[in-house]
Amino acid sequence: AAPVITVDGPSGAGKGTLSHMLAERLGWHFLDSGALYRVTGQACLIEGVSWGDEAAVAAVARHLEVSFSAADSGEILVAYKGCDISRDIRTEEGGRGASTVAAIPAVREALLQRQREFRRPPGLVADGRDMGTVVFPDAPLKLFLTASAGERARRRYDQLLAKGENVSLPRLLEDIEERDARDRSRPVAPLLPAEDAVVIDSTAIPVAEVFAMAMREVAA
Ligand code: CDP
Repeated sequence: AAPVITVDGPSGAGKGTLSHMLAERLGWHFLDSGALYRVTGQACLIEGVSWGDEAAVAAVARHLEVSFSAADSGEILVAYKGCDISRDIRTEEGGRGASTVAAIPAVREALLQRQREFRRPPGLVADGRDMGTVVFPDAPLKLFLTASAGERARRRYDQLLAKGENVSLPRLLEDIEERDARDRSRPVAPLLPAEDAVVIDSTAIPVAEVFAMAMREVAA
């Protein structure tokens, strides 16, 4: 099987940035597993399915007509049934929907095979919560990226502000802590590093340095 680098960790730890940089540098494919959960949440809104209706949400996940494509800008576009929903899934509501539907075991099961299909030569960088523990347990390199909740909220704040979204920092911190608690305490795929993961705490480390640390692990 093609090699996989898994990058797991809580919301806002910088997994997306690191994974993109690794995939780019290595020329490997990239899996944004969070996007699949976000699309599932958004598809429920579109189909009129309530996030609390577990069986109906799982059916949405099983039949998810999602496609990813790269825009000229390099930005990854996400379409559901052919309609661009890239913006909708990146809102705070999109994040809440994702973490709500992600707590449903049948939804995780439905998305498992789909995620594994991203593993193709020459290799895959997989970004998520359970990439190293559940989806790619045999990955030769597993990274677990964390940072303090305060630092993660601040980073998210800067990101959303740059996109012109109107946000409050205390509200974001509350959101992050709530999402952490939900992700950590759920019975399926709770957010924990794999036993063989390399844990990197990026609270006080700039992106370039985190990337350099990760590349040293790739070379090791
Ligand atoms: O980085 P951020 O947490 O804001 O977003 P994301 O990576 O797109 O994930 C959104 C939500 O999907 C998370 O809060 C998790 O609850 C869920 N998720 C998951 O359960 N398993 C994954 N492999 C990826 C995301």
